Amino acid sequence: MKRMLITGAGGFLGSRAAAHFRETCLVTAPTHREMDITDEASVRQFFKEARPELVIHCAAVSDTGACQRHPEASRLVNLTGSEHIAKAAGDAGAKCLLCSSDQIYFGSTAAGAHTEDERLSPANVYGRQKLEAEERCLALNPDCVLLRLTWMYDPVSVNPGEHSDFFRTLLANLEAGRILAYPVHDLRGLTYAGDVVQNMEKAFSLPGGVYNFGSENDKNPYDTVREAFRSLGFSTPLLAPNEEAFRPNPRNISMSLAKLKRHGIDFPSTFQALTKHLAPFLKER
Ligand SMILES: NC(=O)c1ccc[n+]([C@@H]2O[C@H](COP(=O)([O-])OP(=O)(O)OC[C@H]3O[C@@H](n4cnc5c(N)ncnc54)[C@H](OP(=O)(O)O)[C@@H]3O)[C@@H](O)[C@H]2O)c1
Repeated sequence: MKRMLITGAGGFLGSRAAAHFRETCLVTAPTHREMDITDEASVRQFFKEARPELVIHCAAVSDTGACQRHPEASRLVNLTGSEHIAKAAGDAGAKCLLCSSDQIYFGSTAAGAHTEDERLSPANVYGRQKLEAEERCLALNPDCVLLRLTWMYDPVSVNPGEHSDFFRTLLANLEAGRILAYPVHDLRGLTYAGDVVQNMEKAFSLPGGVYNFGSENDKNPYDTVREAFRSLGFSTPLLAPNEEAFRPNPRNISMSLAKLKRHGIDFPSTFQALTKHLAPFLKER
């Protein structure tokens, strides 16, 4: 069994990765309190003790609003902390996956699904921090693999007090009889977290670099949900287009998986996965 270190394992993705890889690896998953990634000495000490061969770096300030409100504090975690992990992994000879985001494409005017080689200038603080972290981590450790993740969901909540997600919010709103309003001026992928964790196994074999890593989707969230409902024979008057969000500057952060597919890794489309996961819930209604 290989030794694996997972950061941010108290969070949404890290906890799911830890549960998954505990089946096949010796997983060390320090809490934020046990290893603060902004403290390089603490990171070094942890690497010395855990001697990981594989690293998954999920710790972050992942709330885009929090990054906007607290740019310096979030930069320390998202940029400096990530540099500490990439460098320590490189020095330990451990293969390292680091989580980036599709938000780095926010602000791009390129049409269609984005590719990894575009020149970018992200429109929000979080996206800029993630892009800079990609560049700095690769400079420090060219063997590390930066995964540009989409918005993820899981029908099942794993941690008490865990932040909600697209899927569980949809079900909760449906249950409560609230309007399901989704933007029409926004193109983005949505990915089942289980598919991300599963594909991380293969991602350890990728050459160092940046990869789009999530489900492809050429539809806005409103059309995505509408088509999933329709294909399942489900209809509700609660579903409504949100025409206001992103109207002044329509957003496109959808990603092409062409590069990842060339390396033999693929994801189901957002439509395929969402339909599959919604089916058991909508059949009950
Ligand atoms: N969730 C998504 O849909 C999504 C989409 C695209 C990209 N991503 C990226 O994927 C990664 C995982 O996201 P997530 O949703 O799992 O995030 P999350 O639920 O917010 O979890 C982040 C974890 O990082 C920990 N953390 C924060 N600051 C830390 C520090 N200084 N030292 C050590 N740990 C620290 C947090 O601990 P505390 O709570 O104790 O502070 C928390 O356990 C992040 O890089 C995120 O930016 C996520």
